[in-house]
Amino acid sequence: MEEIFVVGAGTMGRGIAHVAALTGHRARLFDQDPAQVERALAAMDAIMAGQVARGKLAETQRQAARDLVTPASTMAEGAQGATFAVEAVIEKEGPKKEVLAELDGLLDPDAVIATNTSSISITELAHATKRRDRVVGMHFFNPAQVMKLVEVVRGVETSDATVSRARVLADALGKTPIEVRIDSPGFVVNRILMPFLAEAVKVLEEGVASRDDIDTAVKLGLNHPMGPLTLLDFTGVDVCTYVMDYFHQEFGDARYAPPQTLRRLTRAGHHGRKTGKGFYDYGA
Ligand code: 3HC
Repeated sequence: MEEIFVVGAGTMGRGIAHVAALTGHRARLFDQDPAQVERALAAMDAIMAGQVARGKLAETQRQAARDLVTPASTMAEGAQGATFAVEAVIEKEGPKKEVLAELDGLLDPDAVIATNTSSISITELAHATKRRDRVVGMHFFNPAQVMKLVEVVRGVETSDATVSRARVLADALGKTPIEVRIDSPGFVVNRILMPFLAEAVKVLEEGVASRDDIDTAVKLGLNHPMGPLTLLDFTGVDVCTYVMDYFHQEFGDARYAPPQTLRRLTRAGHHGRKTGKGFYDYGA
């Protein structure tokens, strides 16, 4: 069984560590901000306490999962003995490369480094390390505890053995992996999702329908659990803006550019779920 080290205790990192522990894996969690790790553990406790209260999780399972997650106070402590590292820091190339390079220097030679990037090239990120064949994308979806999909993304130099280890781990985490064979921006889901979210914002900007009606239309007309404007706030207005900017730059196609409303909300620090401000403050 893989020994997991998760770097980054934000929404995704904490969710991945939580899933790992619930499926019996030892998971160490590190964040450059120690308070973020504390918040992650508190959130995990709150979710599991709710599930125990609703009879969805046995108290023994809660305790077992809780015991398997350990905060790491340094990268070196977290990397010690880890066989599989998952990078889940901010969706920006610079910070991700710094983390991958540091992990490369700390982990055992045969350990795999997975990045949870939602859009950035795995090949490019792997170049920050000297183990390019053991770097792979493992793209989880939010909330990682609930969403079944993991996109396993092959960089140009990722070996078959590494892809296979990532698939086996995804299965062991109770997820369904799909393989992204070509390291193309946004992989499969975000490549399809982002233009869809952007179009919903354009429909709002043009005044075609109200915010709530756009969400209701998609929920009821397409059977989605959330409307696109709710999903934007949930995913993070800032995250979606970064991803759309990246697609625009990579594909050189203006239809991927973020709509002005997204840019405006991001500049104003209205990041949706993180700040409690997003489309649902902007007005119906
Ligand atoms: N964290 C952990 N668990 C959560 C959770 C969260 N944030 N939100 C809900 N849950 C759990 C609940 O504990 C509950 O578990 P239980 O059945 O064991 O009690 C279960 O999920 C169902 O929750 P609820 O009944 O409270 O709520 P819903 O049935 O409305 O489901 C939802 C909530 C799962 C978030 C659902 O609305 C949904 O699927 N929304 C769409 C999510 C989505 O599209 N995610 C992908 C975003 S894109 C992405 O991540 C890619 C990135 O790269 C941009």
